[in-house]
Amino acid sequence: STGRHRDHMGNEIDEQPAVARRVLDVFTPGIADGRLWGGAGLPPLDEIDRVTILGCGTSLHAGRAVAGVFSRLGGLPTRTLVASEAAHEVWEPRTLVIALSQSGETADVLRALDGLPERDRTLLALTNNPSSTLARRADAVLDCLAGPEIGVAATKTFIAQVLTGACLALSGLSASARADGLAIDGDLRALAATPDALAAALDAWRGRAAELATEFVTSPGFLFLGRGSGLVYAAEGALKLKELSYRWTEHQPAGELKHGPLALVDAGTPVFVVDNGDPRLEVDVAEIHARGGRVLRVGERVLTVGGLPLHLPRTGPSWGPLETVVPLQMFARELALRLRRDVDKPRNLAKSVTVA
Ligand code: F6R
Repeated sequence: STGRHRDHMGNEIDEQPAVARRVLDVFTPGIADGRLWGGAGLPPLDEIDRVTILGCGTSLHAGRAVAGVFSRLGGLPTRTLVASEAAHEVWEPRTLVIALSQSGETADVLRALDGLPERDRTLLALTNNPSSTLARRADAVLDCLAGPEIGVAATKTFIAQVLTGACLALSGLSASARADGLAIDGDLRALAATPDALAAALDAWRGRAAELATEFVTSPGFLFLGRGSGLVYAAEGALKLKELSYRWTEHQPAGELKHGPLALVDAGTPVFVVDNGDPRLEVDVAEIHARGGRVLRVGERVLTVGGLPLHLPRTGPSWGPLETVVPLQMFARELALRLRRDVDKPRNLAKSVTVA
């Protein structure tokens, strides 16, 4: 791809606001009247008892974010499955199965679907490749419109999958009695603000990601924390950093710190905290500070009142603080560059994993 960086990944990170704009331009007009949902050929949500979402790696994380829209906003029983562990699943009737795969060729995903019964369920493929094996096997296909992604590490396709999945879920919920109209309005406003939020995160972190990467270039490990809707972004940040830098990373629900992972925190330990506005994160941050850990917050919304910072709790969208993934991607790339890793082609990994 063309852009300011010599590597594809840097350019694909930069493309994310434009990708978000494209996805929203295409899909948001079909939300309010349920046209996106119906047009995809899906049965009305009121005829569905549960949603099962599956994928691997970054696509699984995108699926977890999308699951938040069905469950938090629609109260619909929704679970996410690690596709590589789903071979012996028991599939219940009236299930909507959403398989997320950038390539549409991931063998673990295809194999997980081998056990899916032919009848009384609907399979939707959410993919960046509408002519893939996965798309051919599905009852309905949604192209996430990210455009070709060359870097092995998924970046812009993650953004595209989350937004496409959120638009789809909102469309299904708009035409169903399940969701609360007010909550949908809030999510629609959040969708519209997303391209600018992604662009603002890029601008805010360009220098900072580079500085932090220099500061932590010798750190052997990194912890990523979040709560609720922020957790998937902590997981995605940890995945990106390990695959690019080959450093050990771990992600945890912040509430689990005191049940074990806090033992990892020592003077100078870098701890990324994904802020979704949950006020309990302030206590988690204080715990890390008390052990000398270095808290690296992403997504904080700080206002100052009389010169003092005021952390405002906010209720974010049902898919969580999507823009927080941008600084985490940028940091992973910057650290990898300093360690002289090939950011477009991390060792041991392939763009499309066609063996299960
Ligand atoms: C991480 C990454 C992988 C893929 C995973 C699934 O950056 O790229 O974790 O997300 O192998 O691939 P797809 O989405 O093609 O099924």
